Amino acid sequence: MSKFLALIPAAGSGSRMGNDVPKQYLPLSGKPMIYHTINTLCRNPSIADVLIVLAPRDSEWDKYDWSEFSGKLRVFKCGGDTRAASVLNGLTAAQHALGISPEDWILVHDAARPCLSRSQLDKLIDELADDAVGGLLAVPVADTLKRSNQENRVACTEPREHLWQAQTPQMFRYGLLAQALQNAANTQITDDASAVEAIGLRPKLVASDSYNFKVTYPNDLALAELILQQRNSQ
Ligand code: CTP
Ligand code: MG
Repeated sequence: MSKFLALIPAAGSGSRMGNDVPKQYLPLSGKPMIYHTINTLCRNPSIADVLIVLAPRDSEWDKYDWSEFSGKLRVFKCGGDTRAASVLNGLTAAQHALGISPEDWILVHDAARPCLSRSQLDKLIDELADDAVGGLLAVPVADTLKRSNQENRVACTEPREHLWQAQTPQMFRYGLLAQALQNAANTQITDDASAVEAIGLRPKLVASDSYNFKVTYPNDLALAELILQQRNSQ
């Protein structure tokens, strides 16, 4: 039987957030942001292990008590210069430590998406568990899309039909994902699916919603706080 493992790249510095502390540790609903991300993944009964990839010089992780997740949590301080490098380094370290099979599923999920819901996660696993390629949560684009010229004037309006915003988790088998990321080293990819696409495969898009947005700018913190508080009060 193939296992399901989650991998959370959490080695970024959060430069667009503009805080001294990396954004994954900023407080949200009384906990560091990454706590909520870990909580959702650890509580999913299908997921056997949750792998965390920290920056080699991370000085925040050890300030918190993570013992409630000790049954599933595995921490690796091997983050790289890019998200893709962090994911690949984490996969390699976890393979040595735990012995992952090529057929095992890896769900790569950004630390900075703390509002992933239980039902979105279940839906992704249900829709992809028998898939030949794997895929990702994504949202059909809602706004009208403008392409700009050099002066920030509208060059043209792009049709939004068939356009999606990629989210995470992105779910691929270990063997395929590791190979795809190795092939994509030294390219500018910003998600895991891009690496799989580059070897000619077609990841499946699983419809999600905007609650699972990525906390990127300071204004995003208030929105994430609102979503988490509303969910906790239900
Ligand atoms: N990430 C990582 N290693 C990197 C860069 C990013 O593990 N070298 C992680 C981040 O910690 C985050 C996820 O990848 O959980 C998505 O990246 P992003 O939102 O871009 O976070 P940052 O790179 O930290 O933010 P910024 O781009 O604003 O600097
Ligand atoms: Mg980044």
